[in-house]
Amino acid sequence: MDILMNNQEWVELGKKYCMNTYGRLPIAMVEGKGCYVKDADGKEYLDFVAGIAVNSLGHCPEPVVAAIKKQCDEIIHCSNIYWIPKQVELAQLLCENSCYDKVFFCNSGAEANEGCIKLARKYAITQGHPEKYEIITMKKSFHGRTMGTMAATGQDKIHNGFGPVAPGFVYADYNDIDSLKKLINEKTCAIMLEPVQGEGGVINAEVEYLKQVRELCDQNGLVLIYDEVQVGIGRTGKLFAYQVSGVEADITSLAKALGNGAPIGAFMAKQKVADAFQPGDHGSTYGGNPLVTAAACAVVKTMLEKDIPAHAAKIGAYFKEKLAGLKAKYSYVDDVRGQGLLLGLGLKIPGGDIVAKCLEKGLLINCTAGTVLRFVPPLIITEAEVDKAVAILDEVMSTVKAE
Ligand SMILES: Cc1ncc(COP(=O)(O)O)c(C=O)c1O
Repeated sequence: MDILMNNQEWVELGKKYCMNTYGRLPIAMVEGKGCYVKDADGKEYLDFVAGIAVNSLGHCPEPVVAAIKKQCDEIIHCSNIYWIPKQVELAQLLCENSCYDKVFFCNSGAEANEGCIKLARKYAITQGHPEKYEIITMKKSFHGRTMGTMAATGQDKIHNGFGPVAPGFVYADYNDIDSLKKLINEKTCAIMLEPVQGEGGVINAEVEYLKQVRELCDQNGLVLIYDEVQVGIGRTGKLFAYQVSGVEADITSLAKALGNGAPIGAFMAKQKVADAFQPGDHGSTYGGNPLVTAAACAVVKTMLEKDIPAHAAKIGAYFKEKLAGLKAKYSYVDDVRGQGLLLGLGLKIPGGDIVAKCLEKGLLINCTAGTVLRFVPPLIITEAEVDKAVAILDEVMSTVKAE
């Protein structure tokens, strides 16, 4: 570390200079290794947040660090007006291990979803339907904070204060096929959803529902878009979340775990849809540059070589059982939710206090949708680390008054 300051000093300096957009906890992270992080006061935490589903191979995994260091010695950036070998290698890895044929690289989840939206609209035009531009997304969804993805997000609290919200999006109830059917009209070009709603409260899409959505898309000539920004790259127990249900989309976004912290997003598409994009239709200066694609290649190769998704499925099942134990013990717990290592404890009370008390005891967790404790640890966690986290949770939860 170049500057030696404690948590308090970083908090004060941050409040002075950084925009006030996050409800931050009062610690500053300075180190991370495996499933543990350290703050500026030297306190260590077991990390069940993992950068919100980003550090899936843990903090500073050796293959990713080595790939970034090596790439820094070769070439860090070059424009997409040239071919970028690591980008091509990553695209091949993603296509050969999924049902998709072509990939576009960008810098974040929101930017990936912007691209999905543009591709779906362009595809409708190339199919001879310029009147089709409307996209049906889901209530409680989360697709990002840019103007387009904010509009795609089916939550008023994300829109409030930033109107007018971009037109062209309507919102169906998640897991409710009739609600979706009612919204399809002559303007509809696509349906967009998360295979598990993360920010919305860790809610799984039912397999039967996904099959019906696919059928609806096929019957009506609509493009199906999955937002796999939070669930992609191993988190659900499969490399891609669609592999859990077996129901394929036409376009899928990725980000978060793809770079394990190197800022990269992507969207993949089936050939016939991808063909709608021609030179000049879409672009990104940094998108898929040598540095981030070198990191992401190391991530995907490690995921495949070590079969990390299978580990996530196994540990996820173990963790879910332990969470069910907490549900049985505490009457203010409503349910246990999620898939693989995207798990949640739905509470009948707000979850903020439990998060703060876990922090004090050295466990990082997060609360989403106000009342859902969300657990998105690195996918490499062990049973012993799950036991440690559950013991802290149990201790904290025993102090909570249900009223
Ligand atoms: C499902 C989903 N889509 C999109 C995003 C936006 O990603 P980013 O913050 O990288 O723009 C997120 C971020 O939490 C997400 O969970």
